[in-house]
Amino acid sequence: MEDELLSLKGQALACLGNAQDNDSLEACRVQYLGRKGLFSTVMRNLGKTSEEDRPRLGKLANEIKLALEQAFADKQNGFTASNNASKNKASQDLTLPGRAIPFGKHHPVSQVMTEICSVFERLGFTVAEGPDIELDFYNFEGLNIPAHHPARDMHDTFYISSNILLRTHTSPMQVRTMEKQPPPLRMIVPGKVYRCDSDITHTPMFHQVEGFLVDDNVSFADLKGVLSIFIAQIFSAKTAIRFRPSFFPFTEPSAEVDIACVICNGKGCRVCKQTGWLEILGAGLIDPEVFKKVGYDPEQYSGFAFGLGVERIAMLKYGITDIRLFYENDIRFLRQF
Ligand code: DAH
Repeated sequence: MEDELLSLKGQALACLGNAQDNDSLEACRVQYLGRKGLFSTVMRNLGKTSEEDRPRLGKLANEIKLALEQAFADKQNGFTASNNASKNKASQDLTLPGRAIPFGKHHPVSQVMTEICSVFERLGFTVAEGPDIELDFYNFEGLNIPAHHPARDMHDTFYISSNILLRTHTSPMQVRTMEKQPPPLRMIVPGKVYRCDSDITHTPMFHQVEGFLVDDNVSFADLKGVLSIFIAQIFSAKTAIRFRPSFFPFTEPSAEVDIACVICNGKGCRVCKQTGWLEILGAGLIDPEVFKKVGYDPEQYSGFAFGLGVERIAMLKYGITDIRLFYENDIRFLRQF
């Protein structure tokens, strides 16, 4: 009976192999696997085999049956697929234009960041990045912000441990750079910063660009010149600017820089809170205390520094009123840039 089963299998596969269409395949299937087919006929003799052989033969028969059923199903699927393909071919219109694959784009924050950096690169500044996870020393101490200094209240800091934190600004790179190399320095530092703050104008992570220049005889006029060029290029040559006295522990004197409101052009509106001005960055001459911490001689060198928020500049440039739009990844918002 074993020989009979094996030869039946061979015949059935040969028949299947010769079938050219669904009908001949079905005829083949009925002939071998149908209720009155050859396979059933052989199986009727299983009861007549010795009790000893029966389990083995039963198992073999079962395996052969399953294998044949699978082979028939596969061949039938093959016929169906090629049928569909030839039907589709007939209805394909080869003159239709192809479907365009949309290009990805840079995020608006990255676009503005690149634009800001390229203005300063044209002015001879080099670009460097610092670590997001920072030591207390670089974020505060080295910038003349000692523990318990009230200026620390300005920064709602994410602490990792008592002296490791997520940097609250890109200014630490001033200290890291000066510590490693002597003047002259001309550098900008783009990067992410973190503060525990969230509303329509604050996100817990945002981007800043820090800039600093150290050399002999650097004056406030140099700072003013560089920032005027920057604002003319990012906004417009006609954008009015003003320097307003301010305080930062790492600069002396310090200033905040305003531009004429981009919405009302200085007349006063809701965006500029009727003042006609919008603050866009902080700046100043580097405090001699910072130079002392890194071993620079404050009698010999002077320098300026500034720091700006990238999202803020992007919001003013494009008239965006909610900073959170940058981080919701709504494709309808992002497509506009
Ligand atoms: N680090 C300041 C902040 O995050 C911004 C800043 C102000 C940077 C004045 C400077 C500066 O370099 O001179 O608020």
